[in-house]
Amino acid sequence: MSTVPLSERYSVPENDAVHVWSAFFPEFEPLLSSYERVLSPAEKLKASRFLKRADRDRYIVAHGILRELLGKYLLREPSGLAFETGKFGKPKLVLDSGLPLISFNLAHSGDVILYAVANEGQVGIDVEAVRTDLNVLELAQAHFSSDEIEELRAVSPTESVSAFFRYWTLKEAYLKARGDGLGFPLKDFSMTVNSNKLPSIRWAADDPLVAERWSVFGLSPAPGYAGAVICEGKVAKLVSRHWTT
Ligand SMILES: CC(C)(COP(=O)(O)OP(=O)(O)OC[C@H]1O[C@@H](n2cnc3c(N)ncnc32)[C@H](O)[C@@H]1OP(=O)(O)O)[C@@H](O)C(=O)NCCC(=O)NCCS
Repeated sequence: MSTVPLSERYSVPENDAVHVWSAFFPEFEPLLSSYERVLSPAEKLKASRFLKRADRDRYIVAHGILRELLGKYLLREPSGLAFETGKFGKPKLVLDSGLPLISFNLAHSGDVILYAVANEGQVGIDVEAVRTDLNVLELAQAHFSSDEIEELRAVSPTESVSAFFRYWTLKEAYLKARGDGLGFPLKDFSMTVNSNKLPSIRWAADDPLVAERWSVFGLSPAPGYAGAVICEGKVAKLVSRHWTT
C-alpha cells in the first residue's frame, strides 16, 4: 500500500526514451538527515564503513535520492523499495507483480550524482570529473582499444583530455549497462567519439550486433564533468531532469 500521492508520480519512460536525472550539491551535510531515514539497514551499514566522510555523505544522499526518485515512478514509499545485485554488483529493483518494469543505474563523481531510468531494457550511466593532471595518452595506451588510441592521438593536445574523458565515460557506461563492471577488458570493445556525430559503439569482441543492440548518448552534466548513458534497444529520446530537494 502506497502513501505517495498520485500527483507526485513520475511517468515511466516510454520504450524509446531514457530519463537522466542530475543532482549537484556543493554540500551534502545539510541533506543527510532527510535522506538517511529512507535507507535500509544494509545501506546504513555500508555508509558507516566509508573511511572518508565526504564519500559517506555522498553515498547517503545518492541512495536516499535514488529511493525517493524510484518511489515516485512506482508510487511506493522510498524506504519500502528492495534491491538485489547482479554477479558483479549491478543493483536492480525487486518488483512485486503489477508494478511497471523499470531499470536504473546511478553514478557519482565529485559533487555530481546522475541517475538513468529506463523502461525494462538495461541501462548504464557514468560521470567523471575531468582531471587535467593525467597523462591521458599513457592511460589510453594501457586501457583503450587500438582504434580508440589512434583516434585520441589524432586529436590536438588541448582537446585530448576532454576526448579521453568522453571515451572513458562511454566505455564505463557500456560496462555498467551490461552489468560487468571494470572486470571486463576495456580493450575488448571500442567507442567512436566524433564531435560531428552522436557517439556510438564501433565493435565488441563478444557481440557482433553490439551497435544495433545499444543506444549511446554523451552527457555534459555540469562544467568540468563528462558523462555518458547507454541503453539497451533503440532509444531515441533522452529526457534530462534536475533533482531538487
Ligand atoms: C561498477 C563500477 C564500474 C563503478 O565504478 P565507479 O566509477 O567507481 O562508480 P560509479 O559512480 O560510476 O557507479 C557506482 C554505482 O554503480 C552501480 N554499480 C555497482 N556495480 C555495478 C555494475 N557491475 N554494473 C553497473 N552498475 C553498478 C552502483 O549503484 C554504484 O553505486 P554505489 O557505489 O553508490 O553503490 C566498478 O565499481 C566496478 O567495476 N565494479 C565491479 C567490480 C567487480 O567486478 N566485482 C566482482 C569481482 S569478482
